[in-house]
Amino acid sequence: MIELTPLSGKYFGVLFEWERDEKLQGLVGRGKKLSFTAFSELWYELIARCKNCYYIILDDKLPIGFCNIYNIDRKNKNAEIGYYIGDDRYRFKGKGRIFLKKLLQIAFYEHNLHKIYAKTFGTNAGNIKFLKSFGFKEEGYLREDKFEDGQYEDVVIFGLLEKEFRRFIGMGDELI
Ligand SMILES: CC(C)(COP(=O)(O)OP(=O)(O)OC[C@H]1O[C@@H](n2cnc3c(N)ncnc32)[C@H](O)[C@@H]1OP(=O)(O)O)[C@@H](O)C(=O)NCCC(=O)NCCS
Repeated sequence: MIELTPLSGKYFGVLFEWERDEKLQGLVGRGKKLSFTAFSELWYELIARCKNCYYIILDDKLPIGFCNIYNIDRKNKNAEIGYYIGDDRYRFKGKGRIFLKKLLQIAFYEHNLHKIYAKTFGTNAGNIKFLKSFGFKEEGYLREDKFEDGQYEDVVIFGLLEKEFRRFIGMGDELI
C-alpha cells in the first residue's frame, strides 16, 4: 500500500542517500552538497516552517521516495511540487500514479490551493509523459534555465488547476 508520511528525522538517512544518488540527481537536478549534520539541520528547519509540505512515500511501510509542496503563494493560491521514487526498483509499477494523486489531494484540499506547478528538465521524457497523464498542461518552456553537469538545460513548466484535477479524478480514477 502506498502512503505519504510527513518527513521526520528518522527518514533523513535514506533521504540523504537519495540526494547523493548521481543518476537520480541527473533527473531531478542537483542541490548543494552538504554534510549529514548540515543536511539534517536544514531539514529540521524546513519541516518546522511547514508541517504538511514534505513527505516520504512509503510502500508497505518501506520508504521508496520523497515528494513535497513548496514555493507556496497564499495570495494567488498556487505552489510547486517536486517528487521522486528514490529506489529505481520501484519505478514504472504504477506507484507514481498513487502517490501523486495523494500529494495533489493534500495540495488542493489541505493547503486549499487553486493551481499546482511542476518543473522538469526538457530531456526528462518519462516525467513529461507522467505529468501529462494527470492532465498537467505545458505552460512554459524555459530555455537553458539550469546549469547542470557543466551545461545549460531547458526546463518545462507544467500546471494543473484544481477543477482539472477534480475532472481527472471523476474520469474513472477512484478517489483514494
Ligand atoms: C517520474 C516518476 C515519479 C513516475 O513514477 P512511476 O511509479 O515510475 O510511474 P507510474 O508507473 O505510476 O506511471 C504512470 C504513468 O506515467 C508515465 N510514465 C512514468 N514514467 C515513465 C517513463 N519513464 N517513460 C514513459 N512514461 C512514463 C506513463 O504514462 C505511466 O502510465 P502507463 O503505465 O499507463 O503508460 C518516477 O519514475 C521517478 O521517480 N523517476 C525518476 C525521478 C524523476 O524523474 N522525478 C521527477 C523529477 S521532476
